[in-house]
Amino acid sequence: MLSVKQRSDYTFRFNKEMGRHGWLRLTPAYSVKLVQELVEETPRRARILEPFSGTATTGLCASESGMASDSLDINPFLVWFGNAKCAQFEENEIEALEARIDRVINNLPQFLEIENWAPKIHNIERWWCGHTLPLLCALRSSIVDEFGEPSENKYSSLAWISFCRLMIETSSADFNHVSMSFKDKVTRYEINQIKLLFKDIVEAITFSAKSNLTGKAGFFLGDSRTLDALGDNTYDHVITSPPYPNRMSYIRELRPYMYWTKFLNEKQEAGELDWRAIGGTWGTATSKLKDWAPDNVNLPESLLAVCEKILNAENKNAELMARYVHKYFYDMHSHFSSLRNHLNHGAKIDYIVGNSSFYGNLVDSEQIFESSLHSLGYKNVSSRIVRKRNSKKELYEFCVSATWNG
Ligand SMILES: C[S@@+](CC[C@H](N)C(=O)[O-])C[C@H]1O[C@@H](n2cnc3c(N)ncnc32)[C@H](O)[C@@H]1O
Repeated sequence: MLSVKQRSDYTFRFNKEMGRHGWLRLTPAYSVKLVQELVEETPRRARILEPFSGTATTGLCASESGMASDSLDINPFLVWFGNAKCAQFEENEIEALEARIDRVINNLPQFLEIENWAPKIHNIERWWCGHTLPLLCALRSSIVDEFGEPSENKYSSLAWISFCRLMIETSSADFNHVSMSFKDKVTRYEINQIKLLFKDIVEAITFSAKSNLTGKAGFFLGDSRTLDALGDNTYDHVITSPPYPNRMSYIRELRPYMYWTKFLNEKQEAGELDWRAIGGTWGTATSKLKDWAPDNVNLPESLLAVCEKILNAENKNAELMARYVHKYFYDMHSHFSSLRNHLNHGAKIDYIVGNSSFYGNLVDSEQIFESSLHSLGYKNVSSRIVRKRNSKKELYEFCVSATWNG
């Protein structure tokens, strides 16, 4: 059996070292250090935009440096999370919150007696054993009783983020791979372990929530292909990591968090949300892709050439994958096109993106991005390697940069 002591030490130390950046585990989060470096090179009065917010790394780095930023994401869970992660918290209110958490724990016995709501996660027994799951459901009911369901209230969000952390720490989720996978077995937790771990996590999260953020970060629900959600706002520096053309589904990665917080209720919704996400191909998004055809947009020659090669590969999914790659870059091109309306003269953009490979055909994301940016009138377009991605020798992450002088 897993030692709670070891486990809670890990949780606390991890969060203490990482501060707010460590609140939620997500496989494809990008490097805090890299973002800090990009933020540091920006004049303090500049406004930063993050059009693919994810776990809010850019917004938080900007706020820690005293800068103003706006972030967008298509996923409502991440917008909720970003707003809480970058909020300013009052110390006395945090103390009041800790007292309310004690009440949640003290009230737990009454919820252990009844049947509680459980999320409709497919094959839920792969995530938690039949003993641990009802304990988590009871704790969830006790949190709802005290704080209500997740809302915009930043203090109750801290309780919910702590619950998210607990539920993922006690699950069999494994983060050692490119996408979230499962450990070989589920661990059985007793009620006292759940209580201790929850208390420890709350302590770590509320500790880092006390850190003073001097900047201001706003998070908004929106589609970065059109950027309508930004209204007339304009920016000086875009720092982001968009999805990569690698079939990674953020909805799939985030599903435990989203089901437990009720941002996702049915399987059907997951596919619909993934279809709106750039590069999403989970569930019904795959069948929708079969009927997708691009408008008459001038896309880079190199993209059309690699799509042709993928199409001709000997594989039953070759046609679908060729369309997938085509749509991914079509969507990113639409994004770069819309972005021009929201950039101030002299604005800089930095995109961290990975290349990928389909049936041995290398998809040079950085080069295709560069061609798109050139054709849309961006200047000083360049890219540099940021890091090698995994054992496959040709996979790298790049920083693609450009300026806008329009
Ligand atoms: C690589 S992740 C971002 C990682 C992020 N920089 C971080 O710190 O975690 C890409 C994000 O883009 C979002 N996304 C995908 N399609 C989008 C769209 N059309 N509009 C806005 N956001 C989108 C996904 O929901 C996902 O959170």
